[in-house]
Amino acid sequence: MEKGQGMKTVLKCLMACSVAVVMPTWASGEGTYKAVCASCHSQAFPKAPQLGNKNQWAPLIREGQVTLTAHGYVGIRTMPPKGGKPDLTLEAFAEALIFMVNQSGGNWQTPDAKTLQAMQKEVARRQKAQAPK
Ligand code: HEC
Repeated sequence: MEKGQGMKTVLKCLMACSVAVVMPTWASGEGTYKAVCASCHSQAFPKAPQLGNKNQWAPLIREGQVTLTAHGYVGIRTMPPKGGKPDLTLEAFAEALIFMVNQSGGNWQTPDAKTLQAMQKEVARRQKAQAPK
């Protein structure tokens, strides 16, 4: 009896706590941007498109949200995979990118399930293409 209730409390806490911990990073593209991307994307790191620079972002935005998110996530040239943070999820990366794009002349939104799936597919395709033969 006692044990059962204790277990329930633990489970409830686990659920509530993971929601509390996961939600902010998930929800806040700005937070991820500041923590992970800003060191290069607002510090004139060579070649990194800078936050708010519409000229630098316009051609990238034209590539489309699925393509640009997936290619950035996999890494491209001197842009490190996942912004250099190996445990960064695609969702969190997408949110950070939305924040940057929307500060730089674009108007992107949180991807719906279908769009996210398309991103995951493009990530997989790209990773396969890059894998050493
Ligand atoms: C260590 C520095 C560094 C960090 C950290 C970094 N970037 Fe980049 N990023 C770059 C550089 C450099 C480029 C330009 C690469 C090139 O075109 O040669 C770039 C390019 C990009 C591009 C354009 C990709 C393309 O297809 O041309 C996107 C999108 C991007 N970064 C998103 C992000 C996001 C989102 C984060 C944070 C989660 C992040 N970056 C963190 C250095 C960084």
